[in-house]
Amino acid sequence: MTALWPSIDPSFAREIATRTPVRFRHGLAGHPLLTLEEIARLAEELPPASLSAEPAEKPIAAGDAADVAASTDDIGQRIRDVAANRSWFTLLHVHQVARYRALVDQVLDDLAEASGMDPKNLTRRMGFLFASSPKGVTAAHFDIEHSFCMQLQGTRTLGFGRFADEEEKAREVERYWNGSFGRFHEPPETVAEHVISPGTGCYIPPYTPHWIVNGEETSLSMTVTFMNRDNETESLVQAFNAKIARTGLTPHAFGDSPARDRAKAGAMKAWAAVRRPRGAAR
Ligand SMILES: [Fe+2]
Repeated sequence: MTALWPSIDPSFAREIATRTPVRFRHGLAGHPLLTLEEIARLAEELPPASLSAEPAEKPIAAGDAADVAASTDDIGQRIRDVAANRSWFTLLHVHQVARYRALVDQVLDDLAEASGMDPKNLTRRMGFLFASSPKGVTAAHFDIEHSFCMQLQGTRTLGFGRFADEEEKAREVERYWNGSFGRFHEPPETVAEHVISPGTGCYIPPYTPHWIVNGEETSLSMTVTFMNRDNETESLVQAFNAKIARTGLTPHAFGDSPARDRAKAGAMKAWAAVRRPRGAAR
């Protein structure tokens, strides 16, 4: 295997600080834990709550995750057959298995070293694996974490969009904290597209609409995510605001007052209320 991050240098830390999507090269393609067979075996090992299935072909804006959810029965064999069964599979939170937790840590520790970041600041580390059929679509959504989407097999086009305005962002963020998993009902405006193939990937910033369209081949990919002080505070404030909104009050938006935001983040930490909703497409 080549070096994990052949194209990353200290300039990458600036892309993360400014939440700028960027394509990179990585050395995970061909890793022995990331073959189709090993991904199928891992799916057989994980609890049902960590598995998700959908039809491969669907609109970019597919609506709520529940509307397109499919059975995860016999998922191991269905992953082995993914070239032909027009399916889209997600293995969530693969870091709960020790050998994959070690891989997630290696990916992020090496990334931190290559980019000059302190690895201790890359917290709430998570890993996700994906297997999908030719022409499969990862529906448009946003995540609250910093995400590194790394292509292992097949070629895909990763699209980036933007919220129409702050009002739309506030509305979608509130929906996220009420169970939308960040998914859109209408396709966001496209602002950039990146083609990713084995050995390349993209940094996907938090709160950035994105979607992925497979080419004519099966796709295997891994996404590793983390939080840092930047998006952790924002997410804690958004979670706090969603709770306030449920009472019928209108909370002050994140960013209006740093002191108020710090107080809200502190309250949410005390309540230990931030949790990662299950089922978001990565
Ligand atoms: Fe995502």
